[in-house]
Amino acid sequence: MPNTTCVVGLQWGDEGKGKIVDLLSEQADVVVRYQGGANAGHTLVVNSQKLVLHLVPSGIVHRSTRCIIAHGVVLDPVQFGEEIEMLRGLSIVCEGRLVVSERTHVVLSFHKLLDTSSEKREHGKLGTTGRGIGPCYADKAARLGVRVGDLFDPPALQRTLERSLEQKNAMLTGCYGERPVSIPAVLEECERHAKVLKPFVGDHLPGLLDAVEGGKRVLLEGAQGTMLDIDLGTYPYVTSSNTCATGASSGSGIPPRLIANVVGVSKAYTTRVGEGPFPTEQKNAVGESLRELGKEFGATTGRPRRCGWLDLCALKYAARVNGVTSLAITKLDVLDAMKTIAVATHYELDGARIDSFPTSSAVLARCRPVYREFPGWQMATHGARKLSVIPAKARAYLEFIRESVGVPISILSSGPGREDVIDTNG
Ligand code: GDP
Ligand code: IMO
Ligand code: MG
Repeated sequence: MPNTTCVVGLQWGDEGKGKIVDLLSEQADVVVRYQGGANAGHTLVVNSQKLVLHLVPSGIVHRSTRCIIAHGVVLDPVQFGEEIEMLRGLSIVCEGRLVVSERTHVVLSFHKLLDTSSEKREHGKLGTTGRGIGPCYADKAARLGVRVGDLFDPPALQRTLERSLEQKNAMLTGCYGERPVSIPAVLEECERHAKVLKPFVGDHLPGLLDAVEGGKRVLLEGAQGTMLDIDLGTYPYVTSSNTCATGASSGSGIPPRLIANVVGVSKAYTTRVGEGPFPTEQKNAVGESLRELGKEFGATTGRPRRCGWLDLCALKYAARVNGVTSLAITKLDVLDAMKTIAVATHYELDGARIDSFPTSSAVLARCRPVYREFPGWQMATHGARKLSVIPAKARAYLEFIRESVGVPISILSSGPGREDVIDTNG
């Protein structure tokens, strides 16, 4: 029986996946990042020490866990090198424990320049993280990308860059008023990247498949969230990868039928960073309290996160398209002081109730959430370790979520620390 678990975000990212992966990694043999790149910011708080990881799997802090950055990721070697050094400073040595797939695509400085230049234009701003994610995945799809393995094959690299830079320079100079990028400069950059990556590069797949087929405990760490999925999210206000459980298979190479469990992570309310529709957003004192109490500032860019109530239309859709087998609900403590808590149970569009999640962002922006209100419990859930000791009103709120989504809550988090977990069977 496969023992493979995928952890996915069910909202617009920042659900607390890093914390949940850290908790589950204690029992894991292998932890894999399979999509996204340094746009992710996954926070772990261990012994009151905060750690933010962008590329290295969150399982790295458990010293007996092996980690993989698989081919679905787009890897920025500069960020990667900084992260390896940061971890070394914490006495966490990655060499020998972390494999980067030779097939992983490399984010180069011109990808970041294209990303930030595109965001500077008046029209079509998406509010990206500026980490070069979209341009790098675009190159991958256009078969113009540089893969980690290519860094060690200068003639092949040169040929790829000749094809790619012709197009990039036309765009940089013609559309964005930037200076062109030269092949020697990029080759030099790639030489530096090769040095940083060399101790980690390999073909992760045979070892990973051996682990899965051998019943080892494999954890797949999703980045971003379902609503940012390039196919199923709020297009075009999405990232450029499949953030859903489907992406776990294509991005890691594990066959779909061997992924046994999908843990969907959701906050007890909702946040979003960047542009795009967000039906339950609270542009008022409620939103400000959620931001302040939840410390809702981006782990990657530091931008204030947009905040609002839990959206069950979006959550039910997300749970379904991911086939989640259980829910991890985070940040319950952020609601502790609220007098009243609202949850969107459905949307109305042009005065009529709609039951399916819209495919179009323009339509979603016209949807009006219909709320059900719950009385706040106004007592601390932070510090509680068992479900039976938290206020009945908090349990009623959680039960409503569980029943609406139709999936059990297996993990309940009520504080940023590793120890801030409430036993849902206790
Ligand atoms: P990720 O991208 O999904 O890993 O989430 P982030 O790390 O970007 O954002 C989640 C933030 O919430 C981090 O600052 C976490 O330390 C924090 N966090 C996670 N779970 C909880 C919780 O239950 N309560 C509180 N107050 N903070 C939490
Ligand atoms: P984690 O893994 C929250 C958002 C950006 C922007 C959109 C596209 O920490 O949950 P991109 O740079 O990917 O081209 O930006 O996606 N975004 C995230 N929002 N958490 C993330 O990652 C995100 N990664 C990207 O804000 O709206
Ligand atoms: Mg994050």
